[in-house]
Amino acid sequence: MAARPRPTTEGKHSVDLSGVPETMLWPLWNRAVEKSRRAPLIDDPLAVGLIDRIDYDFAGRFGKPSVMHAIRARHSDDLIRDYLAQGEEPRTVVALGDGLETQFWRVDDGHVRWLSIDLPEAIAVRRRLLPDHPRTATIAASALDPAWLDAVPKDPPPFITASGLLMYFEQPDVVALLTRLAARFPGAELFFDTIPPYISRRTIEGLNLTKKYTAPPMPWGISLDDIPTFVRGLRRFQVRSIQTYADPFPQRTRLYKLLSYIAVVRRRYAPGLVHLRATSGSSLQVVSNDAPSFQSLSSAGRPHGSHPPSNQDNATRGTTR
Ligand SMILES: C[S@@+](CC[C@H](N)C(=O)[O-])C[C@H]1O[C@@H](n2cnc3c(N)ncnc32)[C@H](O)[C@@H]1O
Repeated sequence: MAARPRPTTEGKHSVDLSGVPETMLWPLWNRAVEKSRRAPLIDDPLAVGLIDRIDYDFAGRFGKPSVMHAIRARHSDDLIRDYLAQGEEPRTVVALGDGLETQFWRVDDGHVRWLSIDLPEAIAVRRRLLPDHPRTATIAASALDPAWLDAVPKDPPPFITASGLLMYFEQPDVVALLTRLAARFPGAELFFDTIPPYISRRTIEGLNLTKKYTAPPMPWGISLDDIPTFVRGLRRFQVRSIQTYADPFPQRTRLYKLLSYIAVVRRRYAPGLVHLRATSGSSLQVVSNDAPSFQSLSSAGRPHGSHPPSNQDNATRGTTR
């Protein structure tokens, strides 16, 4: 539960995280490893630097590196870049369960405002290990807590990204969150990833990625082919794209590409990448007039605390969180 990274004798930071917050180290590591591959999908020097500074047995805990997290990162980078290119006015990206994601630095167009929402222990680590920036802010809260919505400007509608998050929720919480987002931010774009029910069940039984690491339970699983019906049921979203991890960069996932041609494999075993657009608001939604502005969150007395001085996947048996 403790979140305060302590410098170790080797000068590295020890990060005492467990449970779901510890999972933030998994995609961080896979994004950093991507640099060592031929034709990397992302360029993420901050992630590489973080891996060097954190005292953690990344390979021992998470096993063989996978390209899956780099695919998810690059795919969502591309969606966010497209969103930012839609207009001149400063736009807002809300990153739910942002962990140690360094996406802001990968996609920054010089104007975007970036709001990271994560649990208190995760935000404490983020504030200490990532550099501060006048256009970034953090809120230590659950994504399921509606209070943070008041901090987000509605116009232009934000881009809301939730990489590696929704599978940790129960389905009613996912439905409540998505419904709330669409009601508050009509026109907003939303990106999230999914795991199939088969993988969800395996995590509930106790899925050992390695001898040293068991993935936390991921209760929300959904088959790729069920996502359109699920989204229709929410009644407030238009589907922009639903893809497997093999779809955006087939050259990097030849086996997945082949497997995804087999309907039953695709339906039962493929994790998904989902891009939606919120279509309409709700007259039931109450909007608070005294909501803190983004600027106030970014100011010195911020609720998001201070960042440190800047000294600065595993298709794994199918999981990608
Ligand atoms: C697999 S990590 C993904 C981190 C980051 N999105 C990335 O891709 O590198 C899951 C993240 O979700 C966060 N998380 C878990 N439950 C949460 C909640 N209820 N509200 C906000 N964040 C949550 C964890 O603390 C962790 O940072």
